[in-house]
Amino acid sequence: MSRVVIIGSGIAGLFAALRLSDAGHSVIVITKQRPTDSSTNWAQGGIAAILDKTDGEGMSAHISDTIASGDGLCNEEIVRCVVEEAGDRIRDLLSIGVDFEKEGADFHLVKEGGHSERRILHAKDATGAEIERALTQAVASSENITLRPHTLGVDLIQTSHKEPEKGIKGIWCLSLDSGEMEAIAADAVLIATGGCGQLWERTTNPSVATGDGLAMAVRAGATSVDMAFFQFHPTALMAGNEKPFLITEALRGEGGVLLDDEGLQSYKRNYEHVQQPNQYSFTLQSSPQGSLATRDVVARACDQRMKITGADNVWLITDHLNKEVLHNHFPTIESKLNQFGLSLGRDPLPVAPAAHYMVGGLSVDIDGRVLMKKGTVIPGLYAIGEVACTGMHGANRLASNSLLEAVVFANRAADHFISQPNNDLQDVPQWRAEGMEELEEHAPLIRDLETLRKTMTDDVGIVRSFSRLERAKRMLRLLAEEVDLIWRRSIPTRDLVELRNLILVATHITEDALDRNENRGLHWNKDLIQHEEH
Ligand code: SIN
Repeated sequence: MSRVVIIGSGIAGLFAALRLSDAGHSVIVITKQRPTDSSTNWAQGGIAAILDKTDGEGMSAHISDTIASGDGLCNEEIVRCVVEEAGDRIRDLLSIGVDFEKEGADFHLVKEGGHSERRILHAKDATGAEIERALTQAVASSENITLRPHTLGVDLIQTSHKEPEKGIKGIWCLSLDSGEMEAIAADAVLIATGGCGQLWERTTNPSVATGDGLAMAVRAGATSVDMAFFQFHPTALMAGNEKPFLITEALRGEGGVLLDDEGLQSYKRNYEHVQQPNQYSFTLQSSPQGSLATRDVVARACDQRMKITGADNVWLITDHLNKEVLHNHFPTIESKLNQFGLSLGRDPLPVAPAAHYMVGGLSVDIDGRVLMKKGTVIPGLYAIGEVACTGMHGANRLASNSLLEAVVFANRAADHFISQPNNDLQDVPQWRAEGMEELEEHAPLIRDLETLRKTMTDDVGIVRSFSRLERAKRMLRLLAEEVDLIWRRSIPTRDLVELRNLILVATHITEDALDRNENRGLHWNKDLIQHEEH
């Protein structure tokens, strides 16, 4: 029996844990907060999939929508593989107990931006929560899986720091309950830590999304790719002083329309004659698909509109839609809106883009094995889910392809390990503790985090320029030096570990953005020209 450590408890981590445990391996899942504190749990829209293996047309359309959205950078072999394996993985989820919405005997399917047809399975507007519920229940009843909440992965333990190609033999982690560091030996480590939305002031991500897995793998010799492509979701609710709350794109799939202040006034003025808001949408200037164009296009249109008009938000209009459909399919959103005195199907909803999904990530092969430069595998290290860049999403992820990619690659990585298990637990060194001091003052870390978020928001957001990216790079270098000084003499704490990771990931995003000489997908530098509209 081999021992595998999985870092992260979203769909990728938990699905892989179940596969490995079914094959008789011992699995330790470490997770920073509670198991359900994951981006998966917050996912609303759904999971795109063609279930019927004989539906060649449906699969071709899913493949071509994905590639069109990826704006020329998708790896076609990977897209094909994920789309073709979708049906089997959905059947796995169903057998684990996930309850997708039905309409009679069939699944009820929704549509989101960039999809040419309805192909997204969902559980009302809380699909991720339903998947997470079923997976955590299954994991809890598996004898081979130990779940360790409140445990933060800090660094990978390498066989040789100087020779990363010799592989990984465990992980150092920090118990957030006791404050103690611990070394865990492992035959393989699967990184499933999700993204890094916490780099920006406005994000749809949970607080755990601080790029930990990406940073620790990079420190162990892994390569990051396509980091410039960070996806902003066009419609996060901007109400009260609360953190942005995602308003699923499925609402625009049902016909929701984005208007600016002027468009809203025109719509209201002409309401008696024209009860369709579409024609007033500023998004039509960017794409004939208007509010349901791909996410890169719509988010940029919103950002541009807000900058031109000086408004803090644009408006999502739903009063022309069927109230019963809205009520039945979007209860989570309805109840959130009610907290602010707003109602679906009645009020214009104030929305703005927010950092949402890391499209780039750790370079991996078709089995989720983490790669170094020149494509060499790091033995014993896998990355799955948002933290990995498989080539599926290209320069802009198609909505609702992420849960699908995560479950397909979780399965592939687990299968790969099962077919070539390592069974050779080695001694692992304890964390260096000698001479380390307790961190007395957390205030400098909090200020540095604020500076980091402001820098990323102002200089590495939806629209970039060379001078702003250079400015960000200088600021990030300074922050890295400051935090490194503290790191070298301190016993790790959560805020120190996270800040160190966030700065590293921000540096990779900024440097990748600076290296690009064309605008494509999610990367938009106003000093460059667009390669060709998609
Ligand atoms: C949404 O529900 O709009 C988000 C879905 C996704 O990011 O794929």
